[in-house]
Amino acid sequence: MAGWLRSILAGRPGWMSALMLFSAYMAIIYVPWDFFMKPVAVDEEVWFGILFRGWAAKFLEPFHWAIYAAAAYGFRCMKSWMWPWASLYVWHLACGMLVWNLLYGFEGFAGFITGVVSFAAFAALAVALWRARPLFQGARDTLAERYGGWALVTGASSGLGAEFARALARDGVSCVLTARREDRLHELAEELSKIGPVETRVVSADLADADDVERLAASVDDLDIGILVNNAGFGFYGKFAKQDVGRLRDMIAVGCAAPVVLTGRLLPRLRARGRSAIVFTGSVAGHIPLPLHAVYSATKGFDRLFGEALAVELADDGIDVLVLEPGPVATEFQSTAGGVSGRGESAAEVVAAAFEALGGQSSTIPGWKNWARAVMGPRLLSRPLLAHLAGDVMSEQVSDDMR
Ligand SMILES: NC(=O)c1ccc[n+]([C@@H]2O[C@H](COP(=O)([O-])OP(=O)(O)OC[C@H]3O[C@@H](n4cnc5c(N)ncnc54)[C@H](OP(=O)(O)O)[C@@H]3O)[C@@H](O)[C@H]2O)c1
Repeated sequence: MAGWLRSILAGRPGWMSALMLFSAYMAIIYVPWDFFMKPVAVDEEVWFGILFRGWAAKFLEPFHWAIYAAAAYGFRCMKSWMWPWASLYVWHLACGMLVWNLLYGFEGFAGFITGVVSFAAFAALAVALWRARPLFQGARDTLAERYGGWALVTGASSGLGAEFARALARDGVSCVLTARREDRLHELAEELSKIGPVETRVVSADLADADDVERLAASVDDLDIGILVNNAGFGFYGKFAKQDVGRLRDMIAVGCAAPVVLTGRLLPRLRARGRSAIVFTGSVAGHIPLPLHAVYSATKGFDRLFGEALAVELADDGIDVLVLEPGPVATEFQSTAGGVSGRGESAAEVVAAAFEALGGQSSTIPGWKNWARAVMGPRLLSRPLLAHLAGDVMSEQVSDDMR
């Protein structure tokens, strides 16, 4: 519990953490209480210093709720969109305090003085939030400064893995690139050498083969790896009864066993560094039972639970653990799985979201629609109903012979 609180309060100055806790209190307790419990006759809301009563107040409360919920989340994750909105909202409060005190506060000069004093206090906060732009906009150390000069990226021959490697290279991190298609890895290594002064090492390995996983881990013994990206994985659409069990076993080996073994083998060195990172590429599929992609969603659920548990275990070792959980991404994934390729967000956007979250969160779901589907879906609907709905969506992507 203490560790959890420490992790929540880390990552921003103390005064901002206080604002985060206040916003969370407003969003979780105060505004819902006002909205659901307070009789309309006595309900009051203040906007721009003007007092609204009764139904007008009730109508405006959800807007206040949305603002405080967004602020709590924005401070928690230090989202870039918090600048300039947090500052502008507090400016509105500062002006509102002045107006409110003049209209409804003490009479005469006392009202004026109270208004000016409260305006000054809120204006100082608004200025502090304005000046905090670099904190919100990721003016953080580069990945190389935070985690050292080398990363190991699995599944680097295409899609998200290749994009992880490009983003790392842009931040000065040299990469060990691994996958089965060695020619693709060499092409990427060539591309990375043009991005910046980084080195690359290509290690071809089939992560479905336990010996290859051990060989890969041993092949980086001489490098000071500070970032491990467990990204390799593949899908396989279809009814379980029609699927090739050998391919499903490989899916579990690549998606679950390989990340466990690689993480375990590299952990002593990651821990010894004092600051390092482990990224798992999960999926929104890890939140939802997915008929016609059943084993895949189970492997992604495994990655999610494993990664989020590790994040807690390793927090005191200076190891940032992140489970990246994208929705559909435009990579080769869908065609490999037996569907139509090219649907979804760009891999570059998804990787940027991962590096924005790394060090501040233990998991991230890029895109609010994906978040709503993965997080709100299971809370609002029963799991059997959710599974049926997910099956209907999946059946549109699966070929007739596999349904
Ligand atoms: N695209 C999406 O819609 C989406 C959504 C959520 C999560 N994800 C996850 O994102 C990760 C990356 O997928 P992607 O979208 O970038 O798909 P992708 O373009 O198909 O890339 C998959 C990567 O995994 C590697 N890989 C597959 N089997 C392997 C094996 N047996 N041994 C070693 N490497 C292997 C592939 O390399 P080789 O074939 O050269 O070996 C390739 O580099 C996966 O874990 C996937 O589950 C994807």
